[in-house]
Amino acid sequence: MKIGIGNDHAAVDLKNQIADYIEATYGYEVVNFGTDSSESVDYPVYGEKVARAVASGEVDLGIAICGTGLGMALAANKVKGIRCCVCSEPYTAKMSRAHNDCNMLAFGARVVGFDLAKMIVDTWLTTEFEGGRHQRRVDLIMDIEQRG
Ligand code: RB5
Repeated sequence: MKIGIGNDHAAVDLKNQIADYIEATYGYEVVNFGTDSSESVDYPVYGEKVARAVASGEVDLGIAICGTGLGMALAANKVKGIRCCVCSEPYTAKMSRAHNDCNMLAFGARVVGFDLAKMIVDTWLTTEFEGGRHQRRVDLIMDIEQRG
């Protein structure tokens, strides 16, 4: 399993902590799309980098972190094939996989600390999509994208 991860200047430390945590806990390869500096950058650039890697299959899933998670998620969801939700607690993270089949997770480094972020990531990485009626609804979302 390969996980893409990207962030803006607000989330460099949390990104590094989460990347290390995923590698140590799950043994997954984590591909870092930056930024790695606290110098101010524009979050859509990094949200798009992770999203394109997920959409192309370069990585299996993506995690995007900025101050709130909002900007990264908004940018990522502009890329065809991406379903990215902002999750600030584990329940939403669980449902974003079980019901929405999200292939990207976003959260905010100014919203959650490392301990809560670990719980969100653990829940998200270990929850399977339930399919069934949820597949029909996800298909309807993706149909909106196809119709433009
Ligand atoms: C950067 O100040 C901030 O706007 C960004 O990290 C993010 O929260 C945007 O949604």
